Amino acid sequence: MEIIKVKDYDEMSEKACSYIVEKIKELQEPVLGLATGSTPEGLYDRLIQQNKEQNVSFKNVSTFNLDEYVGLGNDDPNSYHYYMNEKLFKHIDIDKNNVNLPNGVAKDLDKECQDYEKKIIDAKKVDVQVLGIGINGHIGFNEPGTAFTSRTHVVDLDESTREANARFFASLEEVPKKAITMGIDSIMQSKEILLLVSGSSKSEALDRLLNGEVSEEFPASILQKHSNVMIIADEAALNG
Ligand code: PGA
Repeated sequence: MEIIKVKDYDEMSEKACSYIVEKIKELQEPVLGLATGSTPEGLYDRLIQQNKEQNVSFKNVSTFNLDEYVGLGNDDPNSYHYYMNEKLFKHIDIDKNNVNLPNGVAKDLDKECQDYEKKIIDAKKVDVQVLGIGINGHIGFNEPGTAFTSRTHVVDLDESTREANARFFASLEEVPKKAITMGIDSIMQSKEILLLVSGSSKSEALDRLLNGEVSEEFPASILQKHSNVMIIADEAALNG
């Protein structure tokens, strides 16, 4: 794992943006894996800016998001469909047909998971997967205890995850209890992984990822086994 140490959130976002822009320019049909949450917002702001300034085009880019809440439709402001549209897609020249997120309101959720997995395989894998890390070590919504062999599946969200995400909802009760997420193995199939870590609240998780044992009890630890991981972490995350 390569670690790039940066001063703060802005520098992390800047570096991540440069990296993604270069990848898009380098590849004919780039496939990006995208994440939600607070961490990638600065990256998305900068990608929008780069697109506006015509430094990069998303016309040939396809995207796959990691996860979606079960029960929230595309227009629900707390759904990840809505987040991605507001924070990135509606501002850039991407073809909406090339944008993929799991459908959290699918009638048959298991079939939705299988179909999503197949779409990723048909796209010939994700070139660069952007990841954040949860304080409990989750990646995507793969909570502690998730099998490393898992593919896209429905999960019960940890109470700690629901509490961490309650800040986006009116109350904790409104935070969904289930989600669809790409599995650990789906994430590990990505050709490259770009993990962004910012803030002292993530320092324990980052330390465990870098120095702890590889264990399903700490899902992000599997990244030690991936051959192409770049971590961009700021001082607060590195030093606590
Ligand atoms: P955050 O979420 O970026 O909002 O901290 C990261 C995660 O839970 O994976």
